[in-house]
Amino acid sequence: MERELALEFVRVTEAAALASGRLIGRGDKNGADQLAVDAMRSVLKGLNIRGKVVIGEGEMDEAPMLYIGEEVGTGEGDAVDIAVDPLEGTNLVAKGMPGAIAVMAVAPRGHLLHAPDMYMEKVVAGPSGAHVIHLDASIEENLRALANASQRDVSELTVVLLDRERHEDKIRGIQEIGARVKLISDGDVSPAIQACLPHSGVDMLVGSGGAPEGVITAVAVKGLGGTMQGRLIPEDDVQLERLRQMGMNDSRHILELEDLVQGDDAFYVATGITDGDLLKGVQYGKEYATTYSVVIHSKTGAVRYITTQHRMGPMTAK
Ligand code: FBP
Repeated sequence: MERELALEFVRVTEAAALASGRLIGRGDKNGADQLAVDAMRSVLKGLNIRGKVVIGEGEMDEAPMLYIGEEVGTGEGDAVDIAVDPLEGTNLVAKGMPGAIAVMAVAPRGHLLHAPDMYMEKVVAGPSGAHVIHLDASIEENLRALANASQRDVSELTVVLLDRERHEDKIRGIQEIGARVKLISDGDVSPAIQACLPHSGVDMLVGSGGAPEGVITAVAVKGLGGTMQGRLIPEDDVQLERLRQMGMNDSRHILELEDLVQGDDAFYVATGITDGDLLKGVQYGKEYATTYSVVIHSKTGAVRYITTQHRMGPMTAK
């Protein structure tokens, strides 16, 4: 893919963040999501790509915009797969809580796993976790292995998990072995990325969250040289059948990073909506608004932080 596209992709997540940020703390998660979707779609339309949404707002019959299979872009340029999450952390925006982002991943056509909307069990760590952590190992084993590989004490490691009942055993295991737990209410993409960055205060992300978010995460993890494994968790017969159609007859099938995103020519792009540990949120002024974005290019491993000042019309939130 042309590396110049990176800046074009940033315009997409910036637009989504600027639009949905107007509803921060207004208790309207669907409204905020819709604003993000509309804005993202409208900028995507003008990009010089032959884009196809492979992870989006839902199947064609349930989502009018950015549905799976929707063609986006001008129809010229690179043929690419696009995974979008216009508002990652709808509750966070609705409640004015930290960590909501607008995010997108782009890879050459056929290179992103077309993950269905179900849960995925995930384990993510930075480069020192490569070949030493495993989805089938216990959390205690993984923490000991990561501590060993990174020459640190287990007590220095911090693990992020979504604050869910289904993670209680893992949380207890982490605490009993003497490591630190950091619980989040929503939004597991950004903390997974933090786990791959040095000095971020996060060393590992574990637990189950959205599978679509898992694929988007994988693009960033690849660019950062981190390690990740995932497993789709079907919850009913329909989801089980979906897995079979994807060629996964064994429900314990582990997805390696290369299964989630093939090759090394992919972009991860995100813009902060509410303030987070990685990105500041949108700041609205009278005439200008400022956005904070990150672009990770997996081919080069370059991580670019982009601050943009946007000239705005008057605030129009109703
Ligand atoms: P939204 O779709 O409301 O933005 O939620 C995102 C998210 O918190 C993801 O980051 C996470 O992977 C997933 O939802 C967790 O799902 P659940 O809330 O069902 O545990």
